[in-house]
Amino acid sequence: MKFFVDTADTAEIRDLAETGLLDGVTTNPSLIHKSGRKFLEVVEEICGLVDGPVSAEVVALDHETMMKEAAVLRKIADNVAIKVPLTIDGLKTCKALSEEGCMVNVTLCFSANQALLAAKAGASFISPFVGRHDDNGFDGMKLIEDIRLIYDNYGFETEILAASLRHPIHVLECAKIGADVITAPPAVIKSLFNHVLTDKGLASFAADWAKTGQSIL
Ligand code: E4P
Repeated sequence: MKFFVDTADTAEIRDLAETGLLDGVTTNPSLIHKSGRKFLEVVEEICGLVDGPVSAEVVALDHETMMKEAAVLRKIADNVAIKVPLTIDGLKTCKALSEEGCMVNVTLCFSANQALLAAKAGASFISPFVGRHDDNGFDGMKLIEDIRLIYDNYGFETEILAASLRHPIHVLECAKIGADVITAPPAVIKSLFNHVLTDKGLASFAADWAKTGQSIL
């Protein structure tokens, strides 16, 4: 399973990239706003920090303008994946860009039927939003399961990029179901390292080692 981080905070991206765990980055207009930085500049910087796909989202609602925005974003770096919304115009754009060999991440997916349409439009990634689904009283993980089943039934190569993940159990469930990629905020990815017994074990080893009076170096 690939790990993408969902942020436009380049310090956080740099930090996670050093662990060797990071396979890509997703951004969205809200994350760009939160960063307080210029969109094109921040995407360019992120593309230099990771080798994998960096999702940059178009903001137009019509196909023609989406294509123009995508042309600007694609020039930034070879690892830019154009993020388009799951609308008719978004999927027209997805089809056109995919046919040109451009990576496309179809975002704001809330149903398995929508995911089916995105795969037929040639999407490289489909982004079902698990957390927002849960927030509204639906079962976000069931959505991932349904999409996995449908994509496997027909051999679609579109990667399931489970998005809007809020906690470690979301990550665990996605791994069990077989999501291809997860994207989560830095804090959620960092929380995967934590276990109280690791901390406890480390403290007791350190205490016993100190009693030996030895040093390795
Ligand atoms: C995915 O690409 C989105 O940027 C993201 O996962 C949305 O997450 P949120 O629901 O926490 O805003």
